[in-house]
Amino acid sequence: MTAFARNQWYVAAYSHEVGRELLGRTVLGEPLVLYRTEEDGAPVVLHDRCVHRRYPLSEAPTRLDGDRIVCGYHGFTYDTTGACVYVPGQKRVPRTARVASYPVVERDSLVWVWIGDPELADAGTIPRARHLDSPGWVTVRGMEPVDCDYGLLVDNLLDLSHETYLHGGYIGTPEVAETPITTEVDEGAGIVRVSRRMDDAECPPFYARSTGVRGRITRWQDIEYHAPCLYLLHSRIAPVGVEPGPDGSDPNGFHTEITYAITPSAGGRVYDFWAVSRDWATDDAEVSAFLRDSNHTVVMQDVTALNLLQRSLGTERAGYRELSINIDTGGLAARRILARLVEEGDKPVEGVR
Ligand code: FES
Ligand SMILES: [Fe+2]
Repeated sequence: MTAFARNQWYVAAYSHEVGRELLGRTVLGEPLVLYRTEEDGAPVVLHDRCVHRRYPLSEAPTRLDGDRIVCGYHGFTYDTTGACVYVPGQKRVPRTARVASYPVVERDSLVWVWIGDPELADAGTIPRARHLDSPGWVTVRGMEPVDCDYGLLVDNLLDLSHETYLHGGYIGTPEVAETPITTEVDEGAGIVRVSRRMDDAECPPFYARSTGVRGRITRWQDIEYHAPCLYLLHSRIAPVGVEPGPDGSDPNGFHTEITYAITPSAGGRVYDFWAVSRDWATDDAEVSAFLRDSNHTVVMQDVTALNLLQRSLGTERAGYRELSINIDTGGLAARRILARLVEEGDKPVEGVR
């Protein structure tokens, strides 16, 4: 199993999922309850177990009373910091009655949470995905839990040659697997970039139907993986012979941002947050519906494959060997960075505590 890097930010939810209904999520094995305050609309993340008898606070009949959360079993009541402010049957609230609260930052329509040492939580280190919440961009999105080690999802996303085989008829064409990649690794920043430029490629249905482009295309796939959680795929297509500008601004080119947040839930389980953003055909609801359905299908093809892969790995003999080739360069770099982040998270940091 890929160990968890604890002192890192992770996406626990989309902004729209956090409201006045209690939302339960598990991140790095920690059960969490999320809600939004009435007072200023800020998201709150608390440990999802009542200190009394461990009732999950995200489950009915637990409810909000203003910005306080009232346990649905015997009524222990917590404020937004996790401090218990009421217990039934006595005046004195025991000093130890509190649940953990976690640093949380809402940015780019994502709710980021920090499970590790709260003193190390620095919102400035959260990677950005501005297209998810910018004027001029339209996004379709979803989340699927996958029953696999989060490392398998990282492998999957860093090697898009699988599109040709697993996602043929949707986003895969023969050229994806045929075209060599270039890989750049910024070890210090923990970023892996994998790029592929297909000069003369078939246009996959995902783009042909949404953009109306017919015939052969130039297709750029530029991955930027900010370990451990945020994965950006800057995707551009243009009819052969047309070069979109670096920001995809050429009117004949189509610039699409595919975002994934890879959030380890528990051992052998990962949340796969996915989003497709575009700055073209922004008022076309049919295009939105098509891209949502199409990408959901693609994600479910990955979910099925990864569930299966996890089950088969579970029956492998100890010490089995993988065989890696050029297409795995990005995935292997990601594994190295994740291993370093895990190790750093395990070490006491100088000057803190
Ligand atoms: S378990 Fe929550 S009040 Fe008893
Ligand atoms: Fe895939």
